[in-house]
Amino acid sequence: MTPKLFTPLSFGRLTLRNRIAVSPMCQYQAIDGLPTDWHPAHYLSLARGGAGLVVVEATAVSPEGRITPACLGLWSDAHAAALKPIVDGIKAGGAVPGIQIGHAGRKASANLPWEGDDHIPAADPRAWETIAPSPVSYGDGLSRVPHEMTRADIERVKEDFVAAAKRARDAGFEFLMLHFAHGYLAQNFLSRWSNQRTDDYGGSMENRARFLLETLEAVRAVWPAHLPLAARLGVIEFDDQDEETVAESIALAKRFKKLGLDFLDVSMGFSTPGAKIPWGPGQLRQISKRVLEESGLPGSTTWNINTPALAEEMLQEGAADLVMIGRPMLANPHWPFMAARELGVQNPSAVLPPSYAHWLSRYHFN
Ligand SMILES: Cc1cc2nc3c(=O)[nH]c(=O)nc-3n(C[C@H](O)[C@H](O)[C@H](O)COP(=O)(O)O)c2cc1C
Repeated sequence: MTPKLFTPLSFGRLTLRNRIAVSPMCQYQAIDGLPTDWHPAHYLSLARGGAGLVVVEATAVSPEGRITPACLGLWSDAHAAALKPIVDGIKAGGAVPGIQIGHAGRKASANLPWEGDDHIPAADPRAWETIAPSPVSYGDGLSRVPHEMTRADIERVKEDFVAAAKRARDAGFEFLMLHFAHGYLAQNFLSRWSNQRTDDYGGSMENRARFLLETLEAVRAVWPAHLPLAARLGVIEFDDQDEETVAESIALAKRFKKLGLDFLDVSMGFSTPGAKIPWGPGQLRQISKRVLEESGLPGSTTWNINTPALAEEMLQEGAADLVMIGRPMLANPHWPFMAARELGVQNPSAVLPPSYAHWLSRYHFN
């Protein structure tokens, strides 16, 4: 029997050839938000590797929403045009082209991971002012205090999300993921760690969720009805309020569904450096199963789904409908071929283009 990992997944007319997605991964190779030669080659090779969906890295809706100066952006039509070759490459590789749009909030204006991963000192000409719901820093290396967003800032950023979604649509992306996780702006609104507002964007769950709900609703209005709209949500912080946070996340996911969200990616909040994250294989397995079952949304999850057998088990038990694979894809862009072999798929090399597949068929390669 075909492993579930290698069965198609359909969203209306759109079908992914299997349930392996390349998780969005920043490449830190952009200049002024524009892709460089790095990006089309990187994404094409991932698509050729056989994944059903390739999600382009967190792409900022405004210059100030970039994590680092080398992050991609979608704040002008020139940025959208520059992403078209990436879309074409992913399609030519046989995968569905997806993109994640986001705003880094209080974690923006940081050095590249391999240059410290910390805030660029405010006096450095490469730095910019950060914004967030409240003037509360993340801590550790990201200790710059953000500027508290005014109502006008909130409106502007929502409009930036909408404009970026339209540009993603016009560039030809077919799967849009809103970045509502990992301690970036949307999560800054949602989390008590970062939101201390006293207006109607802070305090109660209803208020902390308002920015996310309004952004989702506005984006849904411009993102084509026949194409899937997804959100990556940090459903748990691994602090001492996990029960409440997960319950709130489930309630929020149900609201997302009513507003037209098609797909939920279950991830973590990363709102405090003090989180006690239980790193290990399939670490979000049970939480994802619970969130997806109780919210009624199809979805995916991520973090250390590090073997094909684990991915298959998680799909079988309902912890995900699709697995988001990150670092294993960097280690081996042909991870789907390796997975097909390991799971006993009849003709595993068929996940690759013929120029590779022919030579890796059972006849030539064992
Ligand atoms: C280099 C790198 C860049 C990443 N960039 C993003 C990103 O742009 N957006 C995002 O939501 N997650 C990002 N992540 C998290 C991954 O999407 C993924 O969820 C995480 O690495 C866990 O999956 P893995 O254990 O298979 O690597 C990044 C991870 C890595 C390693």
